Amino acid sequence: MTHKPIRKAIFPVGGQGTRFLPATKAVPKEMLPVVDRPLLQYAVDEALAAGIEQMIFVTARGKAALEEYFDVAGELVASLKAKGKAAELAVLDTTQLTPGRIAYVRQQEPAGLGHAVWCARLITGDEPFAVLLPDELLWNPAAPALKEMVGVYEQRGGNVISVLEVPEAHTSRYGIVRPGTVDGLVTEVLGLVEKPAAGTAPSRLAAIGRYILQPEVMTALAAHKRGAGGEIQLTDAMAEMIGVQPFHALTFTGVRHDCGDKAGFITANVALALERADVGPAVREYLATL
Ligand code: G1P
Repeated sequence: MTHKPIRKAIFPVGGQGTRFLPATKAVPKEMLPVVDRPLLQYAVDEALAAGIEQMIFVTARGKAALEEYFDVAGELVASLKAKGKAAELAVLDTTQLTPGRIAYVRQQEPAGLGHAVWCARLITGDEPFAVLLPDELLWNPAAPALKEMVGVYEQRGGNVISVLEVPEAHTSRYGIVRPGTVDGLVTEVLGLVEKPAAGTAPSRLAAIGRYILQPEVMTALAAHKRGAGGEIQLTDAMAEMIGVQPFHALTFTGVRHDCGDKAGFITANVALALERADVGPAVREYLATL
């Protein structure tokens, strides 16, 4: 059976980034660098690797730097060309998508992740789409998370989310899966609960910020029902699709860095720096002195 291709991806980037104040007073959280690339670039690269054609950024006030970043910097390009700086020019390639491949929508109130996704409904229309939360840096260059999920989607259709087993004590921080049949890394999803109270989680399988969803989820989101924390939750709308459409979870096998958290952001920088030929040796040498 062939399923409609996943051509569009939503990136909710309207958050205020209060955990990174004062830096985020003037710089969007998504623009903070992991080594030398903004956090958001990793999610965009992952989407490109999965064959996504159109990126939809759900932004908010104070996020203008994102538009500058993904635009063509004419003067910079001209001066790099004049100086023959080919390597630097190549680095800019993935930041300059061709016109029309990026769309911006404003989320006018911070009403939750479900609300942010719903803000993009007129652009996704009647197509299935991906959602990537850039805070979650899912590092697996050999098998990027969303690409693997598209593989599962092509076989099974419906909805596919990325999950990881988390410690029991952390289940109340995530959307948690009630698992059904397990087939290797793919688990059937029988239920979803957003941030279950301690001791009530149906499993330790947590959603880690990557989703392939059918357009009907937008109809569920349109009801604007408030869930955990008084917010419009994507998890609640997804839960309404279970039993109506196929719904599977794919366990992520790479390294997950939770960059929404300061410690996670710093460890992401260390881990990715160590993999780099240019800065890796110096960082390793310093760490060895500690
Ligand atoms: C969001 C989702 C949650 C998911 C998490 C992954 O929560 O609501 O289901 O498990 O992202 O990072 P947030 O971290 O925005 O509270």
